[in-house]
Amino acid sequence: MKKLAPSILSADFSALAEDVAKTERGGADLIHVDVMDGHFVPNISFGAYVMKCLNGKANIPYDVHLMITDPDKYAAEFVTDTTEYITIHQEACVHLERSVKYLKSLGVKAGVALNPATPLSTLEYVLGDVDMVLLMSVNPGFGGQKFIPSALGKLAQLAEMRAKGGYEFEIEMDGGITTENVGKIAEAGCDIIVAGSAVFKAPDITERTKEFISIIR
Ligand code: DX5
Ligand code: ZN
Repeated sequence: MKKLAPSILSADFSALAEDVAKTERGGADLIHVDVMDGHFVPNISFGAYVMKCLNGKANIPYDVHLMITDPDKYAAEFVTDTTEYITIHQEACVHLERSVKYLKSLGVKAGVALNPATPLSTLEYVLGDVDMVLLMSVNPGFGGQKFIPSALGKLAQLAEMRAKGGYEFEIEMDGGITTENVGKIAEAGCDIIVAGSAVFKAPDITERTKEFISIIR
């Protein structure tokens, strides 16, 4: 079953728990947590403390996306009873195979993300190790950017690599996803769909969440 992961980056931080509860009422599957360090990406978002303030307030698992330079150093801070995925960037890891194993040793599913310009071939030797591959469909750093169309072909190509290789990892897409383009993204083989501004800037967050889910399932 395809999953929707609303990104709290675009939520109202003064009412974070309420905003997340609205997506939960709409049927959201995961809470996408965008962590930015002002170094790997040109923006600073928030750290583990803010995420942990939501502990016990929502009954959906965390999907942590670390857009940070030294993920090995900080990943453990994001492990909670309800952290399902932690994703690190290929571009930030010199020893990616080791970092993936480290994430798994923390008891979470290990995801690896690729920026729009990073080829799929950079993951060739870890595809058997990862639980999830996150394809960025914007250059990470900000919510509310426009979907980069080449991401769709990349997604289809990754789904094909998965089928040919008999791999079991999930595929996630993140950036610029709206109710207009999500149908095509789901069709191309995406399992987990991230949507930030399209969900949290909607006039009715619960209704928009339901709308997304009815399109992807
Ligand atoms: C981009 C983040 C995304 C983004 C999604 O740097 O990783 O999760 O905030 O937001 P929208 O859906 O507004 O592009
Ligand atoms: Zn993200």
